[in-house]
Amino acid sequence: MSQLDTKSQRSETIRRDKKFVWHPYTEMSSYIESTEPLVIDRAAGSRLFEKDGRVIIDGNSSWWTALLGHQHPRLVKALTDQAQRLCHTSLGGVTHEPAVDFAEEVLRVAPPGVSRVFFSDNGSTAVEAALKMAVQFHQQRPVSQFRPQSPGSRTHFISLEDAFHGETMGVTALGGVEAFRRPFGSMTMPVTHLPSPADDLDRSLSALEQVLSEREGEIAGLVVEPLIQGAGGMKIYDPEFLNRARELTERSGVLLIVDEVFTGYGRTGSFWALNQTAIQADIVASAKGMSGGMLPFAATLTSEEVYRAFLGDRSRTFMYGHTYCGNPLGAAVAAEVLRVYRDEEILAGVQARAKMIAETFQQLAALPGVENSRSLGMCGALELNPGESPSRKGYLANAGWEVYRLALERGVYIRPLGNVVYTVPPLNIPEEDLELLLRVLAESVMEVVGFHGE
Ligand SMILES: Cc1ncc(COP(=O)(O)O)c(C=O)c1O
Repeated sequence: MSQLDTKSQRSETIRRDKKFVWHPYTEMSSYIESTEPLVIDRAAGSRLFEKDGRVIIDGNSSWWTALLGHQHPRLVKALTDQAQRLCHTSLGGVTHEPAVDFAEEVLRVAPPGVSRVFFSDNGSTAVEAALKMAVQFHQQRPVSQFRPQSPGSRTHFISLEDAFHGETMGVTALGGVEAFRRPFGSMTMPVTHLPSPADDLDRSLSALEQVLSEREGEIAGLVVEPLIQGAGGMKIYDPEFLNRARELTERSGVLLIVDEVFTGYGRTGSFWALNQTAIQADIVASAKGMSGGMLPFAATLTSEEVYRAFLGDRSRTFMYGHTYCGNPLGAAVAAEVLRVYRDEEILAGVQARAKMIAETFQQLAALPGVENSRSLGMCGALELNPGESPSRKGYLANAGWEVYRLALERGVYIRPLGNVVYTVPPLNIPEEDLELLLRVLAESVMEVVGFHGE
């Protein structure tokens, strides 16, 4: 195809996009008027290939999913092999090897304490399932040493300010980011939001203690993103919060539900963020990296105690399922993802790369106009503060997006979260690509805060 053909094909795609597609998290009139979207034609490893010929490093892992890079040949093969045999069947009275293989393999590496796999198809539903499980669990659970009170109606949840757990109505209520919750505020279930432990660990723990005592017998679960609150601004907190929260919830008979949708599969430097703590969760939700950025796939992992509360007569059934839960294509890819982590020693490779990220964000911390520069594992983030750089205030008001634009001009995709500039690249990004990514990120931040060197 000639260059001219490619160019006109690209423009035609954008024209039709603007005619037919409603984009997520997007005010469409300004999008139609002034956004020229990237048109991604193909991808490989840590790179995206724009239809217009540009090569762009994916510093975002495509919404935090492509942790092994795009188009990993083993994942593509697992998908195409499985597609030749069986693309879909229900899990209602049916099973298949991919789902069973994956369940067995994921439990081999799962955080201690979980032993059952309940399938769904995205991060929101993995957590939504956990909420419903928790409520029903309390109605049906046996009396035990840790839960001596008689079973009953516990329907209240606790989560964190700045939490994000997805988009379905239950998890919207858990969310601590005002912009996502506001339109639905009048209809979401009541949830107690604790101060974020990233802002003040002690205040967060005392708020937890207080609500557990004030609402004794009413609380079904505490839901948290472990160690990093992702969409709320890549806020990193001390594992001590989780250790203490576990003690407190256990004492009160409250389930601890850990949302590893973003943090799982190595993002924080260990396979699960939970591996950096000494605790066991009752329920762990996982998605995103689980299927290597290939297709929608998710699972809610539960303890044996939770699972057993649903056994017995039919009235105890967990009446929940999604059409594509345990989908064979997703399961075959997800099982291969785990083998790739093992065979390619992905976590061992993270250490050197995490150090590069940490060094860059440490250096940027010293800049005027930059606050709270931080990193953990394969995640680095900083906040741009217009107040610190008054001469460029107007420019900085949209600072995160300015950094985005400048980085994109230099071949790097780093979508911001408001004024938070961050990167979460694929875990196996080649070191030369990571070097380029970090250099471009740093240059773009420096340009926006108006720093021109010594
Ligand atoms: C921690 C966490 N939980 C849940 C979700 C929702 O996942 P999904 O977009 O796949 O529904 C996200 C998405 O970013 C997330 O970061």
